[in-house]
Amino acid sequence: MKNFFPPLTTLETLPTPCYLYDTALLEETLQAAQREAAQYHYEIHYAVKANFNHRILQQIAACGLGADCVSGGEMQAVLQAGFPAEKIVYAGVGKADEEIALALEKNIFCFNVESLAELKVIDELAGKRKKVAPVALRINPDIIVNTHRHIITGVKENKFGINLDLLDAVLKTLPELKNVAFKGLHFHIGSQITDMENFHSLCLRVNEIQERLSGMGLLPEHLNLGGGLGINYYAPEEERIAGFSAFFQLFATHLKRYGGQHIHFELGRSLVGQCGTLLTKVLYVKEGSVKKFAIADAGMTELIRPALYEAYHKIENISSGGAVEKYDVVGPVCESTDSFGKDVPLNKVSRNDLLLICSAGAYGESMSSHYNCRQLREPYFYGK
Ligand code: LLP
Repeated sequence: MKNFFPPLTTLETLPTPCYLYDTALLEETLQAAQREAAQYHYEIHYAVKANFNHRILQQIAACGLGADCVSGGEMQAVLQAGFPAEKIVYAGVGKADEEIALALEKNIFCFNVESLAELKVIDELAGKRKKVAPVALRINPDIIVNTHRHIITGVKENKFGINLDLLDAVLKTLPELKNVAFKGLHFHIGSQITDMENFHSLCLRVNEIQERLSGMGLLPEHLNLGGGLGINYYAPEEERIAGFSAFFQLFATHLKRYGGQHIHFELGRSLVGQCGTLLTKVLYVKEGSVKKFAIADAGMTELIRPALYEAYHKIENISSGGAVEKYDVVGPVCESTDSFGKDVPLNKVSRNDLLLICSAGAYGESMSSHYNCRQLREPYFYGK
């Protein structure tokens, strides 16, 4: 991995813990995604929740992608970074009135609506402003996917989307709501999905639904298939750019597209995951009676994924060429789950060694917190 980073002498000057962002890799990734999507005239909206760092947003906006937001704060952030309002989609099960008002005021492209109750509120708020809100219905397709249980979103018991058996009732109510315009259907089945069969199942489910809607004369102009494409956390050096080609090709092969329907995706992790790395310094090597701990200055406050989802991130010691030994790599936070990995093979670790925690560009910095009054350092950008 070392070759993909600035020289050790540069890294040694950085205050830690901090995120490193490879903007050249980000550019290459964005270009690859855009190129593959363009083959089928697919449109990508970047799922801002993955990383809302201003410079990252600016680079993604400059590459021509739209934005998928889940809050008023995210909408403000992407507008400031240069995304045009007409490329913003706005999802979320709990949209507050003032967030809906902001979206109406800015004339965003579309609301992804998650319930009948929400649809009625959007109708009312749009009516008050003499506007017609463009809406897509987020459908819960009831598809189980092979990923961590905490990041499955499209099964019946999840809070997300409109359950299939309730869809007819929503469709029946739509014509009564004069201040919303039905634009499309929206789906999102989960995140970090590497088994393409799961997306195949989604295509088949969408085809069924569309067939039903076409019988009712309600074919939508837009289909949004969400995000979820996974990345390789185990060997990031071998797969620096996610498998966009196979992903889009799968949809092109299996998803039935009626006439000139517009097809959208909301990719987060696959666009930014590999370009970010958490740089941390070892404070202590602690010999326990059954374990050896490398105690880093980064913790779950900087990268919560291992604690929250038992997520794996590859870790390397870039300061040492010593014999490989096993360490539990832990942080300084007062929680037992504040750990980046157990029995991690690392070149012999000493105090002040620098560790790289890889593939942390998505849901790393964006999920960081101030727990224990901790302060994240400024990120370091390199590569472009
Ligand atoms: N669209 C919707 C409606 C979503 O809920 C999400 C992610 C995405 C798109 C983007 O999914 P992606 O392409 O990034 O997989 N914090 C977790 C992941 C949570 C994902 C939430 N929704 C993690 O660190 O693994």
